[in-house]
Amino acid sequence: MKYNNLRIEEENGITTITINRPKKLNALNRETIEELHDAFDTANKDEDTKVIIVNGSGEKAFVAGADISEFADFDVSEGKKLAAQGQELLFDFVENLSTPVIAAVNGFALGGGLELAMSCHFRVASDNAKMGLPEVSLGVIPGYGGTQRLPQLIGKGRAMEMIMTAGMIDANQALTYGLVNHVTTQDQLLPLCEKIATKISRNSSVAIGAAISAINANFKDGVNGFDIEKQEFGNCFGTEDFEEGTTAFLAKRKADFPGR
Ligand code: COA
Repeated sequence: MKYNNLRIEEENGITTITINRPKKLNALNRETIEELHDAFDTANKDEDTKVIIVNGSGEKAFVAGADISEFADFDVSEGKKLAAQGQELLFDFVENLSTPVIAAVNGFALGGGLELAMSCHFRVASDNAKMGLPEVSLGVIPGYGGTQRLPQLIGKGRAMEMIMTAGMIDANQALTYGLVNHVTTQDQLLPLCEKIATKISRNSSVAIGAAISAINANFKDGVNGFDIEKQEFGNCFGTEDFEEGTTAFLAKRKADFPGR
């Protein structure tokens, strides 16, 4: 697929997806959401890709939200459809990928932008980043999972305050809240993400996929995370990666995981 709104680079097992609508602060219009779905799906299926990094182009924004101009005249049923389609195509989709996804939050991450960052497996921010869910200032609520993932990540009281005030927090506040794992300079943001990605890529990709599934199970209604952990743990024993990992350890050499 040819992308109008994304740039993709693949190097050393890391695929970097850059959302590229800088004049609109990388706002997520429908086309960008469809392209992101395709790009994440392609990278997840690519055997050479061990980690995916997503960021925004330009120095100002990761993503400044869903594209307001596209939904300003929607009615109730169109609003419901917008949230349902977006969650299925992008936000739930990213959260449940077996390939680790790091959000490199390089500026404004607002509304759908923060929701995209929160769908990723973890977040690293540059020190100019600003994060918030300003939807109630537009007369709507977060519709791409924000009311669910923000309290999961930072606790209910803080999420209530952020959503009700429609305010923004800076990168250091986000670090204190646990919304991002690290804060660095803009220059160092991608290098730091790549350093973490390289460390991840040395481990078993099959086991990492199983760990993502077990961790996510904790947040799913009607699913017992401990049961999923037992199943995923057991399944690991049937993989070539497990055989290689344990054999290499006992032979006192570095494992070279086949990823199967
Ligand atoms: N949807 C559509 N367009 C957006 C957008 C969004 N979420 N966020 C920014 N843009 C557009 C602006 O309309 C402007 O386009 P224009 O140059 O054609 O007028 C361009 O991006 C630059 O934004 P601008 O507002 O001029 O930049 P700023 O530095 O003055 O302000 C923000 C930056 C992020 C504070 C401001 O753009 C903003 O509040 N955006 C909306 C955030 C939001 O409510 N997101 C949640 C949506 S549900």
